[in-house]
Amino acid sequence: MKIAILPGDGIGPEIMDEAVKVLQALGEGIEMERAEVGGAGYAAHGHPLPQATLQLARQADAVLFGAVGDYRYDTLERALRPEQAILGLRRELGLFANLRPAILYPELAGASTLKPEVVSGLDILIIRELTGDIYFGKPRGVRTCPDGPFAGQREGFDTMRYADGEIRRIAHVAFQAARKRGRRVTSVDKANVLETFQFWRDVVTEVHADYPDVELEHMYVDNAAMQLVRAPKKFDVIVTGNMFGDILSDAAAMLTGSIGMLPSASLDASGKGLYEPSHGSAPDIAGQGVANPLATILSAAMMLRYSFGLAEQATRIEDAVKRVLAQGLRTPDIHEPGTRRVGTSDMGDAVVAALG
Ligand code: IPM
Ligand code: MN
Repeated sequence: MKIAILPGDGIGPEIMDEAVKVLQALGEGIEMERAEVGGAGYAAHGHPLPQATLQLARQADAVLFGAVGDYRYDTLERALRPEQAILGLRRELGLFANLRPAILYPELAGASTLKPEVVSGLDILIIRELTGDIYFGKPRGVRTCPDGPFAGQREGFDTMRYADGEIRRIAHVAFQAARKRGRRVTSVDKANVLETFQFWRDVVTEVHADYPDVELEHMYVDNAAMQLVRAPKKFDVIVTGNMFGDILSDAAAMLTGSIGMLPSASLDASGKGLYEPSHGSAPDIAGQGVANPLATILSAAMMLRYSFGLAEQATRIEDAVKRVLAQGLRTPDIHEPGTRRVGTSDMGDAVVAALG
């Protein structure tokens, strides 16, 4: 088992150190190799996704990714900005299925902005299509506006599109995941306005014919955003496109108290995956040793489960995380009166100690 370790920018290196610590403590003899990515990739090699990094990611059996993004590189041309690293990895490795669980740990019920009765016991899985949609659709760019009241002015444009097979494969992922959970899928679209998403709805409905044991419901994205904060426990599996999934998964993350708790997996057709926390690089708190490493540690657990079939070791990590929360240890993002405030590396040490 060889893992590419890509810490990235901002808090990425700090949280990655803790995940590596936990993986080493398992004693599974996992081989790890590091490479620069994002702003760090640009600083070291002049590109956010250096060739050597991409090659390592291709060779490895799985990728553990920290976060990318740094104010210092926001003014570079788009192709050189840190975000291109993760977009490039998703595209180059064909990581079309993004699994973003939103689970509320009972100990953190008070950290949610919603009332405890609305969120307690929350366990939903957002499945976001990750290599299509307006994120990657062409043509795109800035051109002269061809018609309408603004004809002749400059205009920015992007293209939303989804191919039949692209929708089909993510729908299968969602229905299969639902079979292992509550057997309910909510497909989120904007079929009332967008051609792309009327087509999405039709294809998901066709795929559903293979899964009569799973309940399918369609929901418009605006309503889904509302239902997520009104009655989030009504959802089991949510499947949606790249952009809606980006937005809804941030909203869902916050229901759980802190985005600092949530892992994610991005898988290709063979199950090879990139694992990363759902949060970003948080440059405002980088280098202070206060970032929450649990999302990255839990991402490492997802990696063991999905890429290496080590479900037992994954559960060991997840149980250890529950234990440190029960012990009252909290990084600042989830700190409440009566709990013990700890830093990034103390939190990692506590998880290692709790592995049992
Ligand atoms: C995410 C991030 C990325 C996205 C950015 C960094 C390109 O927000 O993983 O959700 O929009 O997909
Ligand atoms: Mn996002």
